[in-house]
Amino acid sequence: MCSIIGYYGNEIAAPILVKGLKRMEYRGYDSVGVATESENQIELKKGTGKVSEVNSKVQLDTLPGKVGIGHTRWATHGKVTDANAHPHPSNSGKIAIVHNGIIENFEELKSQLENEGYSFKSETDSEIIANLLQKNYEQTNDVKETILKTVSQIKGHYAFVAMFEDGQLAAARFHEPLIIGVGQDDFFLSSDVLGFIEYTDDAIYMENGTFVLLDKNKFQIFNFEGEHIGYGITKVSKEFGDAYKGDYAHFTLKEIYEQPETILKAGEKTFDAIENTADYIRHAKNIYITGSGTSYNSALIAKQILSKYVKIKAEPIMSSELQFNPETIEENSILIAISQSGESADVLEAIKIAKKANCKIIGIVNLLTSSLAREADVVIGLNCGPEIGVAATKSFTAQLVILYKIVQRLSNNEITINFDEFSESVSKTLDNPSNIKEIGKELKDISDIYILGRGINYPIATESALKLKELTYIHAEGIPGGELKHGPLALMDSNVFVIILNPNDSTYSDTLTSAREIKARGAKIIGVSDVKSDVYDYWIEIPKVSEVLYPISEIVPIQLLTYYAALEKNTDPDYPRNLAKSVTVK
Ligand code: AGP
Repeated sequence: MCSIIGYYGNEIAAPILVKGLKRMEYRGYDSVGVATESENQIELKKGTGKVSEVNSKVQLDTLPGKVGIGHTRWATHGKVTDANAHPHPSNSGKIAIVHNGIIENFEELKSQLENEGYSFKSETDSEIIANLLQKNYEQTNDVKETILKTVSQIKGHYAFVAMFEDGQLAAARFHEPLIIGVGQDDFFLSSDVLGFIEYTDDAIYMENGTFVLLDKNKFQIFNFEGEHIGYGITKVSKEFGDAYKGDYAHFTLKEIYEQPETILKAGEKTFDAIENTADYIRHAKNIYITGSGTSYNSALIAKQILSKYVKIKAEPIMSSELQFNPETIEENSILIAISQSGESADVLEAIKIAKKANCKIIGIVNLLTSSLAREADVVIGLNCGPEIGVAATKSFTAQLVILYKIVQRLSNNEITINFDEFSESVSKTLDNPSNIKEIGKELKDISDIYILGRGINYPIATESALKLKELTYIHAEGIPGGELKHGPLALMDSNVFVIILNPNDSTYSDTLTSAREIKARGAKIIGVSDVKSDVYDYWIEIPKVSEVLYPISEIVPIQLLTYYAALEKNTDPDYPRNLAKSVTVK
């Protein structure tokens, strides 16, 4: 996914655009560019790298003019090169565009345009939008007609902003986010409110299949049939403005340290939604739980706590797999969709499949303005504030707290969890990071790490492996303890580290036996446990907590370990290579 931004106002546009792009960099960060209009001329600068790197190389923020567009890219079509970076000008140089999404019929359109004499400088699908706009504008001489014609010709999903040489802006939305920021004397077009929150908290969330024309301090919104449509202004919560690192070196570290607070805030003020969810679960024919990546790991934990504590059967489904097996979903069931962003394409596809089968949708989601929140019948907010680091940390623990609260409700509050006490114990773990920091140093030259856990600790093993892959690029794999002897034991030798998830629960002694078997093969053992053992070469102590809370107790120090290992390996913990915060393409 990428971020797009546009500005029209009384201030010099480029510095505002660069600032907005920096704040939305989590959406894609392999290249960046800005184009502005000044005296009926479009000027453009772009390059590969992060916003600050490219800006210090080519001074994006010195472009003149009070109208402009900008982009940060996450490559889908074509390599990470200067030519593939956005904005893309049309052949005449009179129109420039920025685009987020995928144009599915770009090859067909490109060869049509090439036959008509247009040439292309990039390998992207996006560049066809610029030339198609040019062609349609030359035919119609009218921006509205041009956009209408263009959106009828392109297939796929997209949000794009086009800037014309006379300074008019036009932006269209089809299955990718686009928000208008309405300031006192200026307007913003952006993929995320973070792009303009410093300037205004008045936002218009554009409907799917609509476009906006922005000119001389006024804007009009139309649907793809060309009909004028109304809009509502939403006051965006100022908390979005908290997306700063503060005194922390990285967003990821800040977000790990926010957890004692976010654990308490998760699902706060959503009593009704939790009650409704419990009701849906009680009466559902079948319960499916879906998500991707970290959110799928939450689904795996949900299955276990529902069966263990309230004897309710639920089926976790990896969102990306459901489309290949849609018949899994039986009619009139419920789908619990878990997602930080609420914009993961695979999760939205899973919802579509479930809706076709007449299922009710429960959304557990951080962004309450997201597509998932809009599609769901019941929405429970994670309420953990913006998560900028690409690796999910506080959103994962907030998801688990909400799932615990649902189980609590289903047990008619027979299961009691003292979240205040628990939050304090998480604080204690975070207050003493020196041991974890030292262990992080040991991982510097390691190429393989395995994480072993049984029962409810197994999803934490897969989540730990995901964190290690993302942040340190070390090959990491979660192993269900009982499977060790069925294959993975062959991998154990003195070159590997194994993290043993071994809380003092029903899995404890079996897992300790596994640890001994691994140690006998020469591997180094990092024990994550509330009980010390001589089998551990390194011990990460976790607090003694009620059994249901062990998963959170285990993952928090592992997030921290992974962060420190990333620093040792000189990777960027906030922006892992090749990834983006939410994957809005399939
Ligand atoms: C987690 O660290 C990853 N960045 C990734 O697996 C993520 O959890 C996944 O893409 C799902 O995102 P979502 O929760 O926003 O749907």
